[in-house]
Amino acid sequence: MPRRPDRLAEPPVRLDRSASTPLTAQLSDALREAMSTGTLRAGERLPSSRSLATQLGVSRTVVTDAYQQLYAEGWLDGRHGSGTFVTEHEPLPGSGTPRDPVAPRGTGAGAVWERPSRAQLRRSGTVDLRPGAPWVHDHDRAALRRAWRHAAEHPPSDDPDPRGLPRLRALLAEHLRRTRGVRVGPENILVTRGTGNGLDLVGAMVRPTAGPGVRAGVEDPGYGKARTILAARGAEIVPCPVDGDGIRPEDLPDDLSLVYTTPAHQYPLGGRLPLPRRERLLAWARRTGAVVVEDDYDAEFRYDVAPLPALYGLDPGRVVLLGTLSKTLDPDLGIGWIVAEPDLMHRIVDIRAGLSDRTSGPVQAATALLLERGDLDRHLRRMRLEYARRRALLVEHLGPRLSGDTAGLHVLLSLPEAAVAPVIAAAAEEGVLVEDTSRTSHGAPRVHGLVIGYGSADRTELRRACGVLARAVQRHTGE
Ligand SMILES: Cc1ncc(COP(=O)(O)O)c(C=O)c1O
Repeated sequence: MPRRPDRLAEPPVRLDRSASTPLTAQLSDALREAMSTGTLRAGERLPSSRSLATQLGVSRTVVTDAYQQLYAEGWLDGRHGSGTFVTEHEPLPGSGTPRDPVAPRGTGAGAVWERPSRAQLRRSGTVDLRPGAPWVHDHDRAALRRAWRHAAEHPPSDDPDPRGLPRLRALLAEHLRRTRGVRVGPENILVTRGTGNGLDLVGAMVRPTAGPGVRAGVEDPGYGKARTILAARGAEIVPCPVDGDGIRPEDLPDDLSLVYTTPAHQYPLGGRLPLPRRERLLAWARRTGAVVVEDDYDAEFRYDVAPLPALYGLDPGRVVLLGTLSKTLDPDLGIGWIVAEPDLMHRIVDIRAGLSDRTSGPVQAATALLLERGDLDRHLRRMRLEYARRRALLVEHLGPRLSGDTAGLHVLLSLPEAAVAPVIAAAAEEGVLVEDTSRTSHGAPRVHGLVIGYGSADRTELRRACGVLARAVQRHTGE
């Protein structure tokens, strides 16, 4: 079997950090099993030790030691320079039967690729620029302790309100008025566990009790989880094209029951929906009767641009606004909100009560204190400054190829299609993890490049990563 340097294999590996078996042994067992069962084939090239260590969130020694062991056993060859290849061997009958007398430890027959956590990647020195995470390392610890002590005093309830705690709803109404110019009262607010939870409830609300599911428009490219959530509620997903400014109302079909959109900072292209388009979108919704679901997730972070009004404020009767503290405070907190007018709100509350879905009372109580004492505002002010500095670093190093950088925590780095995979691989070689646009695309990506999140890397890490990316882009685009 000839060596195939172009056949880079992605070995299925599950590492269990709580197991007593050392990580090196777990890795060599998993690779041995993959080779013996034919998941990895003769001639295929394994990732470099650096790259695999980055992907798994382990130190490079773990990978080099595992590879060493497999060279010694004759499973691998070619260690001198040209890459690491699977040698020829007879695949053994029956899944999970190792050729080696050493039985696999810590891996099962159905071993799957396990993504390491962001914390594990950080510990292994990887700079993680995948989008979707905020910076959670500079919280005011004293404020958090105070909030949780307060939560401990929250009395148990045998009848929690599906809308959430009245005090928190009043504080959120006040917060939305000040930060988003949205004038609502507590009766317009339902406290969710985040945007995903909110969208799920809206998806359940629009779903008919019988017959075929509804048609739900989702931006394309767009937030993959929105597609998943609405599809799980039985909706037929209708991809709605976006351009650099955001969703295009004139391209929306008339038979949608709802359309999900991210007007504050389109995910992932980063456009901010201009006011005329906002108005045309709402006119379309009034004409067709569709509900517009406004995911307001990045609205708090803007750089050098004036705020745009929330869609909700322009036509409350047609819009359900979804907000979250996942980006501004902590995704682990599990707090977000739905804003809706009474009719829609009643339907959502009914659905929620029927699903026995709720947001933890103590978590709401802690959040209420953070809002009441101004801790959230202070955190937001600090983070705005920090994110603006990180965004400036990216613009300085990668400027001409970037778009969508006037808001939020991510940018789009456009690339020719053929350069995307080589740039990602070259970055991984140097310990920088980036993601392409495929997860945001409904079908084959229409937009090519990298979605770079700068929430979870500090400025030192980001500066190094920018250098790595700039070199990789130059090498693979010839610029
Ligand atoms: C487009 C978009 N909306 C919302 C969220 C936050 O979702 P949740 O509140 O469910 O954590 C994210 C997080 O990455 C996002 O990218």
